[in-house]
Amino acid sequence: MTANPPTSERTYVSDAIDLAALPHDFLWGTATSAYQIEGAVAEDGRSPSIWDTFSHTPGRTDNNDHGDIACDHYHRWREDIALMRRLGTNAYRLSVAWPRVLPGGDGPVNPKGLAFYDQLTDALLEAGITPSVTLYHWDLPQVLQDRGGWPERATAEHFAAYASVVAERLGDRVTHFTTLNEPSCSAWIGHLEGTMAPGLTDLTAAVRASYHLLLGHGLAARAIRAAAPRAEIGIVNNLSTVFPATDRPEDQAAARRHDGHVNRWWLDPVHGRGFPADMREVYGVELPERGGDLETIATPLDWLGLNYYFPATVADDPAGPAPRAKAVRRPGVPRTGMDWEIDAGGIETLLLRLTEEYGARRIYVTENGSAFPDVVRPDGTIDDPERQDYLVRHLAACASAARKGAPLAGYFAWSLLDNFEWAYGYDKRFGLVHVDYWTQERTIKGSGHRYAKIVRAHRERGRKAA
Ligand code: FCB
Repeated sequence: MTANPPTSERTYVSDAIDLAALPHDFLWGTATSAYQIEGAVAEDGRSPSIWDTFSHTPGRTDNNDHGDIACDHYHRWREDIALMRRLGTNAYRLSVAWPRVLPGGDGPVNPKGLAFYDQLTDALLEAGITPSVTLYHWDLPQVLQDRGGWPERATAEHFAAYASVVAERLGDRVTHFTTLNEPSCSAWIGHLEGTMAPGLTDLTAAVRASYHLLLGHGLAARAIRAAAPRAEIGIVNNLSTVFPATDRPEDQAAARRHDGHVNRWWLDPVHGRGFPADMREVYGVELPERGGDLETIATPLDWLGLNYYFPATVADDPAGPAPRAKAVRRPGVPRTGMDWEIDAGGIETLLLRLTEEYGARRIYVTENGSAFPDVVRPDGTIDDPERQDYLVRHLAACASAARKGAPLAGYFAWSLLDNFEWAYGYDKRFGLVHVDYWTQERTIKGSGHRYAKIVRAHRERGRKAA
């Protein structure tokens, strides 16, 4: 690895998205997740998830914000589908809340919980929008956390049983299923860094959680396949490009470890390569392996999901926690409202890496987007030039990767709506649509209009070509 300034020489000029490089049946989508938008946490038999517990623990989230009401999507989903129609998108990535479907974690089924996703599916299809359903976007039923959570093998088995229930019910209409969203955040941020639910700082628990998340993924992929033979199944990882802060060998080794921590640990086992040996050594934690697990984890998939937000520049941190690599702040690099570096080149690099190094046959960008402090003008409109710039540059980079051979089949903007941004609460707004949390009024931002225009332009191209 060489020290390469992440904000690369590549510039992606806004109106130069190479739309011709994207297939005619490209999925143009937006994404959300259950806990971030639904609200209605105590309605129709839903039980608490680890995020209810975490966000209601004082001091865990900014302003002690929680998802009790969020965007009230549980009651306003019709309006939200109408928004998608106005954007002209043809796909929508949503997640199912495990504690709605199985409030007891491992049963019995709550019919009202399933009915919610059932009607949502029908309404999306009726609107010409392909639903892409994620089974786990971080909202583990608290009852299962009380029994040990992801560090315990039983959780992986319960996850597969839950996946089977959902696939059986929705699988006659839903073709796109994701097992896990960003398992690295569940394991590393939730169990090692402690700033996300369940809020632990325990390396052994984190490594065990990582193992059981991937095992749960494999078991669930098989369960979905059995329940819904038409299903196309993927896993969604958040990956970063990683650069050493300097050319010093110590920093280069740190970059390799960081790459192992955030990228290879999650990709290698799913591709039948096992858990990276160098990282096993770095963690020094025995994996709770049983015969056959690696084959289960490597159950063949139909596609890979890439969530991309920012690159990482790291330096050696010999006394720090695993993986002993600390993020280095590079002055002068543009950043989003999350304080995340902006580098559109990263998404192209990662799409090509998945293609070349992992032989991906189909990839979706399942999340990409930016938070900035939005200003509502006196006339109620929201112009968000920075978010528009971020969106367009990243789309141009995606198209460039497709032109170079990445089998990119869709892009899901994060997010349809401003929503509960986990530990950051409601202050960080990622939506293409603004949400006034006092009135629940939705307003399409400039970026939403911009996205609609791009989607339309791609569609018109296809029409002309036909
Ligand atoms: C990703 C999460 C998503 C959202 C974005 C900003 O890590 O999957 O829920 O919070 O970040």
